[in-house]
Amino acid sequence: MKTAEYSPGLEGVIAGPTTISHVNPELVSLMYRGYDIKDLVQHSTFEEVAYLLIQGHLPSTKEYNDFCALLKSERTIPQAVVDAFKNIPPNSNPMDMLRAGVSILCFHDPDRDDNSHDANLRKAFRLVAKFPALIAYSYRINRGQSIVEPDNTLGHGENFLYMLLGQKPDPYIAHVFDCSLMSYAEHGFNASTFAARVTVSTLSDLYSGTVSAIGALKGPLHGGANEEAMHMLMEVGSPENAEAWVLDALATKKKIMGFGHREYKTGDPRAAILTEMGAEISQKLGDNHWYQTASIVEEVMRREKNIVPNVDFPTSYIYYLMGLPIEIYTPIFALARIAGWTAHMIEQLDNNRLIRPKALYEGPQHVEYVTREQRG
Ligand code: ACO
Repeated sequence: MKTAEYSPGLEGVIAGPTTISHVNPELVSLMYRGYDIKDLVQHSTFEEVAYLLIQGHLPSTKEYNDFCALLKSERTIPQAVVDAFKNIPPNSNPMDMLRAGVSILCFHDPDRDDNSHDANLRKAFRLVAKFPALIAYSYRINRGQSIVEPDNTLGHGENFLYMLLGQKPDPYIAHVFDCSLMSYAEHGFNASTFAARVTVSTLSDLYSGTVSAIGALKGPLHGGANEEAMHMLMEVGSPENAEAWVLDALATKKKIMGFGHREYKTGDPRAAILTEMGAEISQKLGDNHWYQTASIVEEVMRREKNIVPNVDFPTSYIYYLMGLPIEIYTPIFALARIAGWTAHMIEQLDNNRLIRPKALYEGPQHVEYVTREQRG
């Protein structure tokens, strides 16, 4: 058996091959199936990117139209899931509700026990289609609001905004939101994707893998960082306070949320795209307060620690400017990343080998056993 060197947090360890995305820190680039994220954000839609990730190629016009129609036909969720949401205590965490919703949804999927490639594709598309309703419905029900039925004249992202907020978004806002979804859709062997792959590598199913992934994404070192970043910006308060706030936070060894990355050390290409959009949306909405505050935090972090923002930093204030509730930012990350998660689970199952690393045992050896009576 091969042995490998131990690396804390598996840093630098290659845990397996993939053809889904290429994270290239040297070139500060990210490719989905060989396509640069910059080109995809500029020219595609989230639906097209989800198709690319899961099916492996960009859709023709017919494939695209069929796929959009399929997603629309799968937008609603079973009444049993809606009823279950009604029994969750008020003001619950939206990621916990999403995780619970996926668990209940599995009972209503006719392909639940079929792990063939085709059945997995069908399940992947259903999951992508149903995530907006799972998030919007659970949130509204839990906050005492009535649910908003999907509107099939709207695209995937804008329909989510409509179901969450109860009004159709401005087309520009919907466009920026869609760009954020494309940027969040996939990112190699990140913690949540890896959790999904580990789960299905036991020949478990896509729903179980998705539940694992949601649990992993929730933490503030991963997807939870976009919410934490906005809370932090609110604590900073203003551009005038930003420098002193960051210096103080660094002096007291606080982590600055939305900064740093395990792979990107000189720049996150998604952050670059979204920071530009953050400047634009701030200008269009006539509210530069958060962008200016964020820019100073960024400047001080670069100067003091040479640490750059990750994707979660610009999305935090972009979503805030869009009027989205802060506790929904991480579920939005999941709404996009379900495309990457399902693509990875299918790739894992198509060529499976159980993911089962070794532990570096550091405890005592050959301890003499003492019976309970002797232990007193
Ligand atoms: N704020 C302050 N210092 C930081 C930050 C940060 N955000 N990130 C890294 N550092 C410092 C560490 O304190 C450490 O310094 P030291 O060597 O003096 O102790 C050094 O940089 C290396 O940091 P690690 O945490 O060891 O780097 P790692 O690769 O393990 O961490 C991580 C990456 C977890 C993302 C980290 O940068 C972090 O906690 N960031 C804040 C949370 C965040 O934004 N997460 C989102 C990640 S992107 C995503 O999931 C889409």
